[in-house]
Amino acid sequence: MFEIKKLSMNLDMVIYNQSGNIILDLYKEHRQLSINTKYLPILFFFSEANYEEELYYQDFPDFDNITLENIVAEFITKKVLVYVNESEEKNNTLGIDTLNKSINYYYWANKVFTEEKYNSTYDEFMTLMDKRKSQPNIYKEYPGEKYDLPFPQEIKEDLMTTMLKRESIRYVDPQKKINLQDLSNILYYSNGETAYALDSGIGSAIFKTLATPGGRAASELYFVNFSLSEIPLGIYHYSIKSHNLELIKKGNYRDDFFNICGGQIQLNLANGLLVTTERIDRIIWKYQDASAYRSALIETGELAQNIYLTATALKVATGIIGTFRDNMLESLLDIDPALEFGTAIFTLGKKEGLTRFNRPTLEEYREGEK
Ligand SMILES: Cc1cc2nc3c(=O)[nH]c(=O)nc-3n(C[C@H](O)[C@H](O)[C@H](O)COP(=O)(O)O)c2cc1C
Repeated sequence: MFEIKKLSMNLDMVIYNQSGNIILDLYKEHRQLSINTKYLPILFFFSEANYEEELYYQDFPDFDNITLENIVAEFITKKVLVYVNESEEKNNTLGIDTLNKSINYYYWANKVFTEEKYNSTYDEFMTLMDKRKSQPNIYKEYPGEKYDLPFPQEIKEDLMTTMLKRESIRYVDPQKKINLQDLSNILYYSNGETAYALDSGIGSAIFKTLATPGGRAASELYFVNFSLSEIPLGIYHYSIKSHNLELIKKGNYRDDFFNICGGQIQLNLANGLLVTTERIDRIIWKYQDASAYRSALIETGELAQNIYLTATALKVATGIIGTFRDNMLESLLDIDPALEFGTAIFTLGKKEGLTRFNRPTLEEYREGEK
């Protein structure tokens, strides 16, 4: 069947003015472009789906038709303008198929395949007593070289003010570096141990700067060093037990993480990364029902906020990345996907005068795509 294609402004895009620059934020792809104000009328011509040819009958005194064609072509390449056909225009709803993947993922550990078993607290205590010996280790340790971290410092920033200042800062100056003390502080305040207990039901329990489902302390942190000079470049696990870094792999893994994160440009600039994971086996040991997966994600959210707030208080720039290729991440971190899964990646760098609105120009984006 013959389809009539019109051009339309990408609807998954937010347009705003930042200090005289027009920013086009293609938020689903995590791409931001900056354009000159004079191109806006051309863009707005397609705020309703329109045939491209119609554009050339309009009055744009600043442009001849060749220039207009070039601008439209550039907008199409950058997916600022997208083709729509008439059936899509009328039927633009998100159905179960579109959402299928995330629904599947949620149900993977949840309701569909297993019967829900919500025990009374008494029954739960008795079951845990029985399987105490099979408790997954509450601490994770890697056998490799260990690197000491400086003792975490006392930070005297007001919490409420820090919360108000929290923001995602993606694009940092790669020449300016955070130091090992900053890293130590972020690791400890976001996922550090604050107390330990030997419980008669569950055995070993650790308490952290965040609430953890069933006291299972399931979140782990990894640091990927791209440029800090105090320790070798490489991938490290943060040992919660010893507050040090355990080397998993030496080397510069910037390109790998650039790929893992779908080519997000901030990966080219960051000093290093934090990777957060959840040890789902620790939670499942205690809860074999829908709440296991749900609570792992809630713990992740707390960890993420801890990282953001500590970084903000220390004037370290950070931005979360939730889009990444799980399989590649698992193999780089040497994690067993049956027991542990990646939940987020955070870029790190110096904040100094930067805000969430500092964006690369179109030219810098082009550089990043090469
Ligand atoms: C779960 C999650 C995943 C995210 N993934 C990305 C990402 O892949 N890339 C990115 O640039 N920002 C990502 N963000 C950051 C959001 O875009 C950002 O938080 C939002 O625009 C609000 O800005 P703010 O954090 O400065 O307040 C993510 C945020 C969350 C909570």
